[in-house]
Amino acid sequence: MSTISIKVNGKRIEAKEGEMLAVALFRAGYKKFRKSVNGEDRSLFCGMGVCFECLVNVNGKTVRSCITPVKEGMEVEFEES
Ligand code: FES
Repeated sequence: MSTISIKVNGKRIEAKEGEMLAVALFRAGYKKFRKSVNGEDRSLFCGMGVCFECLVNVNGKTVRSCITPVKEGMEVEFEES
């Protein structure tokens, strides 16, 4: 896997091309991706695309970060808490 950089909430982080986005985010220190309707932190849970707890926006589209491979040019956005 080659090392690339992607943009996360306006900042550049390093990631391995092809690894799952949630892994790259965790390694960069991002552990919470959004809030529930009750205001609880949400993040990686099932890790296999079933629970939808890991949703983030990539280039304007909502994706499950645990099953989304990292690619060059990604711009990731989510609500940091
Ligand atoms: S962690 Fe469950 S869908 Fe991603």
